[in-house]
Amino acid sequence: MKFQKRGPLKGQITVPGDKSISHRAVMFGALADGTTEVVNFLQGADCLSSIKCFKQLGIDISNHTDCSSVIIHGKGLHGLKKPSNILDAGNSGTTIRLISGILSGQDFAVTLTGDESIQRRPMGRIMAPLKMMGADIISDKDNACAPLKINSNLVNSSKLHGIHYISPVASAQVKSCVLLAGLYAEGETSVTEPSLSRNHTELMLNEFGATVKSHGNTTTILPEPHLMGRKILVPGDISSAAYFIAAGLIVPNSEILIKNVGINPSRDGILKICRQMGADITLENVNNHSGEPTADIVVRSSDLHGTEIEGSIIPTLIDEIPIIAVLACFAKGQTVIRDAVELKVKESNRIDVMVDNLSKMGAEITATSDGMIINGGKPLHGATIESMSDHRIAMSFAIASLMAEGETVINDAECVDISYPCFYSDLNSL
Ligand code: S3P
Repeated sequence: MKFQKRGPLKGQITVPGDKSISHRAVMFGALADGTTEVVNFLQGADCLSSIKCFKQLGIDISNHTDCSSVIIHGKGLHGLKKPSNILDAGNSGTTIRLISGILSGQDFAVTLTGDESIQRRPMGRIMAPLKMMGADIISDKDNACAPLKINSNLVNSSKLHGIHYISPVASAQVKSCVLLAGLYAEGETSVTEPSLSRNHTELMLNEFGATVKSHGNTTTILPEPHLMGRKILVPGDISSAAYFIAAGLIVPNSEILIKNVGINPSRDGILKICRQMGADITLENVNNHSGEPTADIVVRSSDLHGTEIEGSIIPTLIDEIPIIAVLACFAKGQTVIRDAVELKVKESNRIDVMVDNLSKMGAEITATSDGMIINGGKPLHGATIESMSDHRIAMSFAIASLMAEGETVINDAECVDISYPCFYSDLNSL
């Protein structure tokens, strides 16, 4: 796909529903008794992978793509059926890691896989705590990657037992996987993380009737709750809004209103960092939907300056680091990103892919062992960008192209379907 430099961006955008919350609504709705209606469900390929898996597990799900509403006819905590085929999580780390926790508590065998990218991503991080709980989970290739086999050796189901897991990584996928296995365990299950990752699982499971408590970086769940179906209103995804926040900031004379965005404090690091860089961002209509805070975001072009991004803020903006790297190219002075080694195990190695592609556009950027250093202020020019089929890379470079001289070509640009199918038409509407 080809892109050209563009003038001021003005107007209003409504970004699609939050990816993390949409996945969880399908999963918890399936484990609840009765009907769950998910309004503003993200119709992206990742969340559709979750729907497909739960349909194979015997859950009746109707998806009204026209109004973005999904109805899940839950069967309760013990209502899942053995699928007749391998479950395919596609490109979705959230699907494969969270579903592994749920499936470890079932009394049937199942094989889980995903696309090429998923088959390279680390699953040892969920296999280790699940095994500590007594789960039978193995990698089919003995490399701690998918395909994963769960319960392949079980003659009779053996019950999981609760653990207190000290996680070496701040990962909501690991935390959620362990908590979901904890639904089926004897005794309570706790997870302590080095810093707090997104807490959508905790908030939503409580809404469905589970008992999940958080103290500092430790989250504890009680087993065998009675989950009840309910209506979930999914807020707009702040990770999708981030591209328009960045566009509004870097393209001179822009003003963009982004409606109904989730601003959960475990996800709002992008707002904090942009403000730290000198951004003009205001929140309007601050509200709350199904326990998740929301707001309309107004962003105006701003003179940015470099900053340091490290420590406990990293998990709250982990998916936004590619677009923050783009922002840093237009900020005065140096931006240093540290403690972000997790970027190497996302849909692509996001440190290397950002550094390679931004360098091609003329940016002064260096990779470090756990992040990158960007010296802002160098003018960018068009280049051919390899998205590596990573949606967040493609969207970040579509925004960089708005301020680059000449033509930018993004290869495999359609991978935005993973989290934001209408991204390019929304961008063109401004
Ligand atoms: C997600 C958690 C994050 C994030 C991913 C979605 C989730 O991954 O990068 O896009 O929905 O729980 P990690 O938990 O591996 O950091």
